[in-house]
Amino acid sequence: MRIGNVKLENNVFLAPMAGVTDLAFRILCKEMGAGLVVSEMVSSKGIYYKDPGTKTLLQVNPKERPIAIQIFGSDPEIMANIVEEYLNPREDIDIIDINMGCPAPKIVKNGDGSALMKDIILARKILREVVKVSNKPSP
Ligand SMILES: Cc1cc2nc3c(=O)[nH]c(=O)nc-3n(C[C@H](O)[C@H](O)[C@H](O)COP(=O)(O)O)c2cc1C
Repeated sequence: MRIGNVKLENNVFLAPMAGVTDLAFRILCKEMGAGLVVSEMVSSKGIYYKDPGTKTLLQVNPKERPIAIQIFGSDPEIMANIVEEYLNPREDIDIIDINMGCPAPKIVKNGDGSALMKDIILARKILREVVKVSNKPSP
């Protein structure tokens, strides 16, 4: 199976789970055969403003690759900026996933996560801006 140029051994994926899919958990799932693992959701603003806690969430071990990093946010410029500046140069990150499903009040109240499903124009803008600058995965 492939996503763009990223080769996956099978179609069993570890779903992104905030507070669960940390580095250690992802390695365990990889060792048990997951074809793709996904990080916890990571704040695009946290990356943009260089929050130290956010940096920890972006740690990746070569053992767990291929890996997708899930980002959340609702500012297309910030999201495109962090992809271009911080995620594109990271060769240890294979796929970028954008959260549009989190229903947690602290996320939705900022217009992030599932709030994007109430603003399809904004969701489209985020996708367009991020895809325009992203170097992964390429066809
Ligand atoms: C504790 C917990 C945290 C979750 N965090 C995220 C998250 O950060 N990003 C996301 O896209 N989905 C998140 N989800 C949703 C899961 O990725 C998944 O879509 C959901 O559990 C349904 O999967 P299932 O149909 O296999 O049960 C979370 C779910 C749980 C239970």
